[in-house]
Amino acid sequence: MSAHGRLILGIETSCDETAAAVVEAGRIVWSNVVASQAALHAPFGGVFPEVASRQHVRDIGGVIEAALQTAGVTLAGVDAIAVTAGPGLSGALMVGVNAAKGLALASGKPLIAVNHLSGHLASHWLHTDGRLNMRDAFTDPDGIAPPPLPHLGLIVSGGHTDLFWVRALDDVVPLAATRDDAAGEAFDKAARLLGLGYPGGPAIQRAAEGGDPTRFPLPVARTDDGDWSFSGVKSALARQVARLTSAPTHPLPIADLAASFQSAIVRALTDRLALAALAARDHPPRAIAVSGGVSANAALRAALTALGRELGIPVLCPPLALCTDNAAMIAAAGWFRWAGGGGTAGVGGVGEGLGLEVEADWRLV
Ligand code: KG4
Ligand code: ZN
Repeated sequence: MSAHGRLILGIETSCDETAAAVVEAGRIVWSNVVASQAALHAPFGGVFPEVASRQHVRDIGGVIEAALQTAGVTLAGVDAIAVTAGPGLSGALMVGVNAAKGLALASGKPLIAVNHLSGHLASHWLHTDGRLNMRDAFTDPDGIAPPPLPHLGLIVSGGHTDLFWVRALDDVVPLAATRDDAAGEAFDKAARLLGLGYPGGPAIQRAAEGGDPTRFPLPVARTDDGDWSFSGVKSALARQVARLTSAPTHPLPIADLAASFQSAIVRALTDRLALAALAARDHPPRAIAVSGGVSANAALRAALTALGRELGIPVLCPPLALCTDNAAMIAAAGWFRWAGGGGTAGVGGVGEGLGLEVEADWRLV
């Protein structure tokens, strides 16, 4: 297959980012365009689903056009279209799926349904030296080293907190997930509670600077069977705030509260990773691969780096543009699903056997 035989147009609209990207062979990002709705949802302190859907409708056409233009190709020049089919906000997903269906129908290109979580896992296959639009820099995507396998794949975002044992992209075992709030959602709710605005993660991180993370011990967000439960930490924070508000200690010690909360979330995440690594002592993971918006958190990064050092394995984290929701990762996952791993780094279709397959009423490739 020529280089032009493996160009995928990816489309992502599962939450509050309208995104499109062109990626070659699941590895090389030709373009990666994201229209974020964060400012639009800020007044609501979280994503407002109906507002999200409507904004996707406004943005999707321009975003796809920009992705093709930046990559220097037309629709006729791509080989397939990959789109996030779930999980996500249904009204939001529908915008991307319908756009992709329309383009596939009009152009006769294959349409590939992609699971959003598979996309996050696949983001580690994208070449990550921090440069995007690298079509002139590399002619041999198969020559770029893929992430070492098996690895622990941690997805921490506003919508998801999931840990997978990744043997290959088509051989993935779920190890842990959140029972209630996602870690990012917990950050967002805690920030609202502390009056810090939205998105909450960066606001909590800023507020926590110089704070004492040990001042208000909060429960570790774990269940007995190894899943996470973040809503209890948030409730414990709310109770702490209520106690402080009723006492004459006003104003609230925001820095200490934010630092204590952040530390509880970080501990829950890294403790579970350590447990997973320990359980796999005989065949240890060769890396910890982290993605999702919460992986921008400096305290989490520091704790993960320390854990990686302790375990003697690298911690892989794509550049932020590929870590938060984007369509390059969807194009990558779509390619691996479509190509079935044929000659590309030995990875196969994405999400098979995991319950990650998406249900779709249109032609899957
Ligand atoms: O992956 P993402 O951009 O979108 C999805 O949720 O799918 O993640 C957004 C989440 C938000 O909840 C935001 O508060 C959190 O990531 N986040 C952070 C930080 N930056 C973003 N959480 C903690 N610390 C940060 N620095
Ligand atoms: Zn995501």
